[in-house]
Amino acid sequence: MILDIEIVDWKTRPITNKPEMYFSDATQQPPSVDHLLETHHQFYGRPWALGKCLFDTALECGIKPQFNVLDFGCGAGRLAIWLVGYLEYGRYFGVEAHYNSIDALLRYELPLYGLSHKKARVLHDSEINLDVFGASFDFVIDAYSSVHLDSARAAVYRERLPTVVKKGGMVLISPVPERCDNAFFPEFEVVRRFSSSCELILNSGKDKITEWSLFRKLS
Ligand SMILES: C[S@@+](CC[C@H](N)C(=O)[O-])C[C@H]1O[C@@H](n2cnc3c(N)ncnc32)[C@H](O)[C@@H]1O
Repeated sequence: MILDIEIVDWKTRPITNKPEMYFSDATQQPPSVDHLLETHHQFYGRPWALGKCLFDTALECGIKPQFNVLDFGCGAGRLAIWLVGYLEYGRYFGVEAHYNSIDALLRYELPLYGLSHKKARVLHDSEINLDVFGASFDFVIDAYSSVHLDSARAAVYRERLPTVVKKGGMVLISPVPERCDNAFFPEFEVVRRFSSSCELILNSGKDKITEWSLFRKLS
């Protein structure tokens, strides 16, 4: 069978200093062969099914459909496929440095789950330009992402993230930051430090417990 689809080597696409925003419903191009083979499910070293566990943890932490949610380092959408379906139209915002992951999310995963119409917005950026959305957030989830930032970007992250979170808004981070106290984000309190598991994966012996911290913005 011949597949009449465009093959683009996104890996050669440079990351520019200029952030670019993409909308799920603006992505009309068909998925690439790589996306159809779901190679992006192997990008992060831990099972794709972990996304369900991340979603369940966010629910336990009080996420609501009417919340504006920022998925920092959203990858190819392991969590987004659950979140976008759950959240109201236009409430999902992702930031991701790796273009091929964004492409897989918008051109393959969201269409596959019938979610292209939900106006998910994803920013292609590695410089923590979180104000580009012009939105403030009720809930931020950072699953295994800020831990990979170099020290300069980590400092910018800690400075800028609080500026886009609403008063009373929550930030859920895994793994627990090295210095997890009220000084990590000065305007925040630490609500909980806890572990979560994903029965589906743990029973197969393929994953481990995830350690989280949950912060709430005070002022
Ligand atoms: C281990 S993966 C986790 C992906 C996703 N949170 C998940 O659990 O499926 C870490 C992600 O953070 C992204 N990332 C790393 N540095 C980043 C930065 N400066 N800005 C945005 N994303 C970044 C990586 O490209 C990668 O997709």
